[in-house]
Amino acid sequence: MREVGETTLDLCDDIEMLDLGPDDVAIKITHTGVCHSDVSVMNGTIPQEPPLVLGHEGAGIIEEVGSNVDDLAVGDHVIVVWSPPCGKCVYCTGRNQPNLCINITFGAMARTKFAQGGQEMMGMAGAGTFAERTLMPRQGVVKIDSDIPLDVASLIGCGVMTGVGACLNTAKVSPGSSVVVFGAGGVGVAAIQGARIAGAAEIVAVDKNPAKLDEAIAFGATHAVLPEDLADTKNQITGGDGFDYALECIGVPALMRTAYDMTRRGGTCCIVGVGRMEEMVSFNAFELFYNEKTLVGSYYGGTDVRTDFHRLLRLWKSGKLNLEGMITRRISIHEINPALEAVRNGEVVRQVIEF
Ligand code: APR
Ligand code: ZN
Repeated sequence: MREVGETTLDLCDDIEMLDLGPDDVAIKITHTGVCHSDVSVMNGTIPQEPPLVLGHEGAGIIEEVGSNVDDLAVGDHVIVVWSPPCGKCVYCTGRNQPNLCINITFGAMARTKFAQGGQEMMGMAGAGTFAERTLMPRQGVVKIDSDIPLDVASLIGCGVMTGVGACLNTAKVSPGSSVVVFGAGGVGVAAIQGARIAGAAEIVAVDKNPAKLDEAIAFGATHAVLPEDLADTKNQITGGDGFDYALECIGVPALMRTAYDMTRRGGTCCIVGVGRMEEMVSFNAFELFYNEKTLVGSYYGGTDVRTDFHRLLRLWKSGKLNLEGMITRRISIHEINPALEAVRNGEVVRQVIEF
């Protein structure tokens, strides 16, 4: 990515990976999902300075380990973590919120790891998985069993963890509850599955793309509606009260507001989608008190990747989390620009690049 605002990426074969540090691992990326956040970096919603190698939802095989890394070996299969826990700070220990640890993330984000003709560049979110090889700090990978297909594994690195984690870790969806999920892309479909796993009684998917509605049902939504039909569905399902849980998985301010309105008094509205910094959502000063709703952001699904990635893989192994079905298209890196366009158009659940 050369400039913020451009809609295409340059495909280059002359970008080199910089040298491995003592605390790093080098990974051969075998699979990487194309996530809406990649598009959001291109259009400036998520700020990151170009030139940049995009991609942050990846899995692969360790090719080299730094001299201080004694618990990973060449050949290990790993999932890339774009917000790694340092394991030592107060977020990682006392607060039990390792997803919010910035010690490694900020360093990894600001670090150049690639170079082209002498110009160094960073990887998106400290990752950069649209490259065949990338460098990660040791904490930026989670080792998995080598019999797990790496295409399935790659999805866990961002969208699946984000959506399932929003339900299980952040909103804490309870059995028998009613849930509405805005957006049936990769993150929304993962949230629908998270709500199903949590035992929600009703799961309503909302998407503006009619083709997404059948798909949402296939992943566990009990109802799937266009935005204009949501109010009726809410009244029918909740007797007008509103949903116990609403999850916004798109990143649009107006829909964040709608998600709050669709939440019942005392319910939980969870913001998963990423909007622009200059965009505002307003609430009146009375309703925040009077409705006693919980309004909560969910960053990386509130995860502790060291345990949650394995938890999700066990759910997948036991048939409770459908990951293969989320792969709408398998593509080559040469198809990246049409793939990004398909994400902009909301056409796909996930496209996975196979190197
Ligand atoms: N109303 C209803 N549905 C919408 C609207 C809208 N105004 N705008 C977009 N959608 C739908 C699209 O049709 C698509 O199905 O939202 C879905 C978004 O899915 P993806 O593009 O696959 O995005 P995803 O990767 O799931 O990410 C969603 O989570 O992590 C964040 O940065 C990410 O903000 C993004 C959000
Ligand atoms: Zn992502």
